[in-house]
Amino acid sequence: MMTYGYEPEWSEGAIKTPLFLTSTFTFKTAEEGKAYFELAYGLRQKDKSEELGLIYSRINNPNLEILENRLCLWDKADDCAVFESGMSAISTVLLEFLKPGDLLLFSSPTYGGTDHFINHFLNKIGVDAIGFYPNQTKEEIIEMIEQTGKADRLSYIYIETPANPTNDLIDMSMCREIADAFSTADKSIGIAVDNTYMGPLWSSPLQHGADLVIYSATKYIGGHSDVIAGAVLGNADLIKRVKTLRTFLGNMASPHTCWLLLRSLETLKIRMEQQAKNAKKVARFLQNHTHVKEVLFLGSLDKSSRAYRIYKEQYNSSGAMISFRLEGGEKEAFRFLNHLKLIKLAVSLGSTESLVQHPASMTHAGVCPSLKMKIGITDDLVRLSVGVENSEDLIWDIQQALLAAYQVEKELLVYQ
Ligand SMILES: Cc1ncc(COP(=O)(O)O)c(C=O)c1O
Repeated sequence: MMTYGYEPEWSEGAIKTPLFLTSTFTFKTAEEGKAYFELAYGLRQKDKSEELGLIYSRINNPNLEILENRLCLWDKADDCAVFESGMSAISTVLLEFLKPGDLLLFSSPTYGGTDHFINHFLNKIGVDAIGFYPNQTKEEIIEMIEQTGKADRLSYIYIETPANPTNDLIDMSMCREIADAFSTADKSIGIAVDNTYMGPLWSSPLQHGADLVIYSATKYIGGHSDVIAGAVLGNADLIKRVKTLRTFLGNMASPHTCWLLLRSLETLKIRMEQQAKNAKKVARFLQNHTHVKEVLFLGSLDKSSRAYRIYKEQYNSSGAMISFRLEGGEKEAFRFLNHLKLIKLAVSLGSTESLVQHPASMTHAGVCPSLKMKIGITDDLVRLSVGVENSEDLIWDIQQALLAAYQVEKELLVYQ
């Protein structure tokens, strides 16, 4: 993460990759320019030793390419496409692999922005979508697809696991089996997995049957709450399609965004490991608190549950995202949030500082109310992204905010 893909002698011995703030690149000769464009437009196959030369920063740029090469190492992917946001990565993948008339199968819950894109945009362009839930079996999902009467149009499976904000796990291998069951000789159904909650350290969806893995790089990969970005990884042919659409949508990440992410990658592993360590301690504290009804955390799964089996097979850490239900509802949850002193009340996750928010009224505010109830995004739910701070400080803050939130309640009761 510090040196791969960059040689200091390329840039005056600079130890760090310089920021290549340039929109365009000079060609040595007109023939060279022509050869690069032939490759960029797929007019001919690449020779074995040939690399796509630098053309124009909407197509490629050294900061973009070095970052993409480094990200490939974590997921053992052939290639990677970095975007200016997680949403641009998600929407570009869905637009590339779906067309009007197709049916998309997606897991629910999913990040509110993704839910909106699927349910409010894709349907406008004639793509039907059908959601499935974490507790559904393979047979139930297959039956549900068949009951739509559109099973022959199933074209793509999109899953987010662990799901934001409930930490529900979706079995990636099961989704592969579903994809294979509906694939035909002339149609192979692809699977994309949003691995933002776990990636890239704690789960490798490409090893569990996914064709593409997607990140909001704004989260752990960026990790400092100072950049918005996204990434998609997979085999060379699929990423070529994703990059081609990215070129024409023009939603690639800027050199500055990539430079910031290169800086972030150097500490990615130690940040994530510290966050996971802290999260275990915070979750333990929450589990024993009288005003906390339920803790949704991968480290607290019931060992006899299906989720635990998936966790053991497909994940190697309990991560650093904790959601929990408080006694009461929105009023109590808001009181708790308003009394926090150290933990910041803000959306986003995966950053060095701990962040807390109220999914029902914030990140998932746009999700249809009946669906929110069905998937457990209730008014008493709080989502916490654990940072790298001293865990004792975090526990102290949660403890004092809980005390203050419910103290007020008690005082009000006495007054009444
Ligand atoms: C799981 C998940 N996927 C995708 C996104 C969208 O990413 P971005 O905000 O970088 O566009 C988010 C944002 O919160 C997210 O939590």
